[in-house]
Amino acid sequence: MLITDPTYCKSSEFFLAMITTADHAAPIAGAILSLVIIIFFSTACNSDPDLLLDFCIADTTAAAAFHFNGLPCIDPATARADHFATSALSRPTDSSGTLFGFNATMTSPAASLPGANAQGLAMARVDLAPGGMAPLHSHPRASEVALVLSGGVLVGFADTSYRLYTQRLRAGEAFVFPRGMVHFMRNEDTSAPAVVLSGLNSQSPGAQLVPFSAFLTEPRLPDEVVKKTFRITGQDVQRIQRSLGGS
Ligand SMILES: *[C@@H]1O[C@H](CO)[C@@H](O)[C@H](O)[C@H]1NC(C)=O
Repeated sequence: MLITDPTYCKSSEFFLAMITTADHAAPIAGAILSLVIIIFFSTACNSDPDLLLDFCIADTTAAAAFHFNGLPCIDPATARADHFATSALSRPTDSSGTLFGFNATMTSPAASLPGANAQGLAMARVDLAPGGMAPLHSHPRASEVALVLSGGVLVGFADTSYRLYTQRLRAGEAFVFPRGMVHFMRNEDTSAPAVVLSGLNSQSPGAQLVPFSAFLTEPRLPDEVVKKTFRITGQDVQRIQRSLGGS
């Protein structure tokens, strides 16, 4: 059984910790079981930390005197409705001159949506040029649900067994990319742009593009590592680096 509801996760973790620590009869087996359970639940139940207040509107003016997991809050008495509103996703971004024909805007508590601080969520608007693509990438800290607002979009992800799940979506249709899975979105229409709106269950989902992780890190990965990873030649490596805009 895979449990993903965060409240369920927390109470089960507590409950299981109680039974396993009460297991005096078989201390070693008990310790191993506890470890397995802790590992299982810490991987199955990771999500952004819970809030102890109604909200924590980001104080974007605070000096970065020390580092939080998130942003410090303003005095709740000074909260306004517009702290919870944003127009950041209302404007199309320019995807025409980009490397892959896509551009994206993500809400951020620091820049565009202070009321979302510590709420464990973010939204993204993805603009895909005609034939454009958000190339293979993953979000290490968030599951994503992508809703097509306009256009025809081919989406897909690979799971850890390398099984591929793909779907063609039209306007109004949505698709879930499970947390951390490598995925893509491609505009199948070569004459019109497509717009996708995504919801993500972290305020800091992170994004790692597969081509950049392999070919455009700073500093570059050793050639031998890239050559052996993909079973290609040094010339292939250079050709791909150049085609991705590196030198
Ligand atoms: C993405 O769109 C914004 C807004 O139109 C633009 O300022 C930015 O340059 C675009 N990014 C790229 C890589 O072209």
